[in-house]
Amino acid sequence: MLLELVLLLITLAIAYALFINRVRGLPPGPPPLPLLGNTLALGDPIDQVMLRWSKQYGPVFTAWLPAPTVVIADYKSLQESVVKQGDLFGDRSVPSVQMKMLVDGEYGLVFNGNYMWKEQRRFALHSLKDVGFLSESLQESVKSYSQHIVSDWKKDGADGKEIDVTHNIMYGVANLIWLLAFGRTVQFGDPKLKVVKDEVNKLFVAFVHPCVPFLEYFPYIGILDPLFGYPIRNMKEVSDSCMDIVRKELDITEKALNYDEDPRCYADSFFIEMRRREEKGEPMGNFTRDQLAVAALDMWTAGFETTVTTLRFAIHHLMSRPEIQRKMQKEIDQQIGQRQISMEDQKALPYCMAAILEIQRLANIVEMNFYRETNQDTVIGGFRIPAKTAILPQFPSVHVDPKNFERPDYFCPERHINDAGEFMKDPRIMPFSLGKRQCLGEGLARMELFIFLTTFVQHCSFSSPTLIPPEIKLIRGITRSPELYTVKITARF
Ligand code: HEM
Repeated sequence: MLLELVLLLITLAIAYALFINRVRGLPPGPPPLPLLGNTLALGDPIDQVMLRWSKQYGPVFTAWLPAPTVVIADYKSLQESVVKQGDLFGDRSVPSVQMKMLVDGEYGLVFNGNYMWKEQRRFALHSLKDVGFLSESLQESVKSYSQHIVSDWKKDGADGKEIDVTHNIMYGVANLIWLLAFGRTVQFGDPKLKVVKDEVNKLFVAFVHPCVPFLEYFPYIGILDPLFGYPIRNMKEVSDSCMDIVRKELDITEKALNYDEDPRCYADSFFIEMRRREEKGEPMGNFTRDQLAVAALDMWTAGFETTVTTLRFAIHHLMSRPEIQRKMQKEIDQQIGQRQISMEDQKALPYCMAAILEIQRLANIVEMNFYRETNQDTVIGGFRIPAKTAILPQFPSVHVDPKNFERPDYFCPERHINDAGEFMKDPRIMPFSLGKRQCLGEGLARMELFIFLTTFVQHCSFSSPTLIPPEIKLIRGITRSPELYTVKITARF
């Protein structure tokens, strides 16, 4: 009897794995296990796992993570769906249980409720523009931090001392976000910076614990938390600690705010909008303190870790491939000399532009994009997809597909240079994602990457402390980042 029951369960599990996508009318995909779906495969780098599946089942396939998710993993299908039908793919598949547990609701800019994302994204973009996002004065701040960083490195790295570049990079990047979000900067030696960086790192890692996606579908999994080493409690603690920092910063901003003057930052604009609604007796809608706090946290986490990590990858790649570094330096020496580099110099520095694009492709810091959700029935790659289906616009897999890039793991800026020596922007490289939820801070990130990186190699040469440069070891979280490494820095002038 027991044997028969076991055989029956196995048969049912196999039938489920083989036919569930067809029964649900979804695109084919890797056979899912009951309850676990395909989540066990996510232990490997996800850009590669998804690429493998897309080769096996087609560029539009279903993965159960653990809920059924339609993954779009090639450039053409992404363009035809997420870009050309942008309005259909703007909503998120919001992790409501996690948001309720962590911040008491669907607030913020990244995982906020679908009823408010358009309004809050528009408000954030407008208010950032009002306070100088992408303006000449922001560019001046980026330049001044780039100078500060290289002059510190010249001192710290004198006499061949090996250094970890993270702290100085973090200082520059954190201050630019701090300025835009809270209207002030942090002193270089302020221990708050390290706390901030450590907490964001912990948060990013906590979010990708294998138990976390199951919370949405089995909220009672929380009871089993001790069995897995308390990942859910850890995530909550780190999130509370980050929220605490943000709320304190917002208090300082609010106290210094003069409502009769122009806003200095995003938080000012938000407080002013709240006051305006109060005074006019208009409903507060989504302009609440909780929304402001989570939106500021999102801006800070999304804009900080991503940029620092990309720059840390960049220096690791450049120390590992000195000939590429020398080509960048030669171009800068010929075109710019020793003067400060600015965004207007992009055209004059095609090789540097190509190197930055290639570094972003290679680093692929977001190995799995954030989920979206269809807001109407639609067709993707010939498959009819119902409204409210989770969608993964998996651009990172496009970056590692040998069909698009020969030897994708090979660092080769020359891929992006044409015969006339000009930089060729490759639309298939989309580190900031695509469609209506494309990165909100892309302009700032591009400015930081260009000015920081070109200024770094203009002033300094980076070399490996060992004959064979150390391999990059990855810390995997919402973004993947290199583990701590050290580098030798030689001042060029
Ligand atoms: C190298 C740096 C950066 C990279 C690679 C990056 C990448 C991304 C990606 C892949 C997304 C997800 C888009 C999607 O859901 O399809 C995103 C969203 C976002 N990013 Fe960035 N980002 C960077 C820097 C920044 C900066 C500097 C800010 C600061 C303002 C920022 C703010 C945001 C926000 C608020 C979102 C959510 C947008 C939305 O859901 O509407 N990011 N970013």
